[in-house]
Amino acid sequence: MTLNGKHVFLGVTGGIAAYKCVELLRLFKKAGADVVVAMTRAATRFVGPATFEVLSENPVLLDLWEGSGSGVAHIEVASKSDLAVIAPATANFIGKLAHGIADDALTTTMLAMTCPVLICPSMNTDMYQNIRVQKNLDLLEESGIHILDPDSGVLACKTAGAGRLPEPWFIFDRACALFYKKDLKGKTILVSAGPTVEAIDPVRFLSNHSSGKMGYAIAGAAEKRGARVILVSGPVSLDAPVGVERVSVESCDQMYDAMLGSLGQADIIIKVAAVGDFKPVSVQAHKIKKNGEQDQGHMTLELTQNKDILKAIGLKKRTNQYLVGFAAETRDLETYAKGKMEKKHLDMIAANIVGKSGSGFKADTNKVKLFTRDGLVTDLPLMSKEKVAHAILDAVVQAIS
Ligand SMILES: Cc1cc2nc3c(=O)[nH]c(=O)nc-3n(C[C@H](O)[C@H](O)[C@H](O)COP(=O)(O)O)c2cc1C
Repeated sequence: MTLNGKHVFLGVTGGIAAYKCVELLRLFKKAGADVVVAMTRAATRFVGPATFEVLSENPVLLDLWEGSGSGVAHIEVASKSDLAVIAPATANFIGKLAHGIADDALTTTMLAMTCPVLICPSMNTDMYQNIRVQKNLDLLEESGIHILDPDSGVLACKTAGAGRLPEPWFIFDRACALFYKKDLKGKTILVSAGPTVEAIDPVRFLSNHSSGKMGYAIAGAAEKRGARVILVSGPVSLDAPVGVERVSVESCDQMYDAMLGSLGQADIIIKVAAVGDFKPVSVQAHKIKKNGEQDQGHMTLELTQNKDILKAIGLKKRTNQYLVGFAAETRDLETYAKGKMEKKHLDMIAANIVGKSGSGFKADTNKVKLFTRDGLVTDLPLMSKEKVAHAILDAVVQAIS
């Protein structure tokens, strides 16, 4: 995600995990955000402010009384922030913020903050489970502040349990999620992605070049917009987007069962997977040998048609379910796409040309044209698959609202 033009406030308090926030700062900077760091006095015992100052390219807010001269530094910083993240958040800081105490630069700035706030508690397990800390976290949550649960594992104090600060990439992902409108809250979206794989024998298979990137982008985008997402995925080398329920499958039959099995829960179904049209009539129990019976310089592989997952969903779906299909074509895009929308009872089809640079399988960008059953056509420009994902979801939200 790009954060160009966004102002991020990063508060660092005096926990052992403060060092991880140097990396968190770098992730925000890399995404294009302007970052102002504030540190408590205790935090400076763990990491020197100079590190944050150099990497953020901004002065670090340390002391209430060292203003910029003219304005009031903590109020100015708070009013221009689009997002505030406190990582790590100590038990002490959590207690102070929950009760409106403002006795240093960070806590005072936080009381003036009106943007979304993400707090990342990190501490020893007994401290974290202490009833007073838990009550303070509840108070913060009730006031609209977002709390990121700590990870469990071995902690710096050599005990094991809940209290570890999540990895910087995860905090970054959850923080970025706060920038999205939650227009899919309450909806369940069923997405299929990736290729299918049909075994020929124990070592060989039939498949295609789908990387899963488009379907994963849609799943990730929908989760960030508040949806519950079930992602049925063929074999790909991508990590599941945060917060998405992934069901891993290989063959078309497995994908059929997984999709139809979850269909009843879905409000929106987006079928992006590149499902193989054919599979071998029989799977050989042993590896086919080059010098075997078939070897006369050639061999014939008998194929049979796979189940049509999209058509089955189109026939079974309820009237209050919205079905989006994808058409990857090498020619006559519009004709094939509209024909597929009719034949498979889709509400919308996203059509893209494969085989062109910057579009289709494996690429990080895509060029998609959307057609809806009621005649709307949206020709999206070439853009990142993440942006295409959001544009498709925009169109779906518009259609169902
Ligand atoms: C070595 C060391 C590690 C600490 N680690 C943590 C921690 O991970 N989480 C926490 O809540 N407090 C931790 N503390 C205690 C806080 O530093 C202490 O409560 C301090 O007053 C917090 O100040 P602050 O909230 O203003 O940053 C640690 C203290 C020491 C000496």
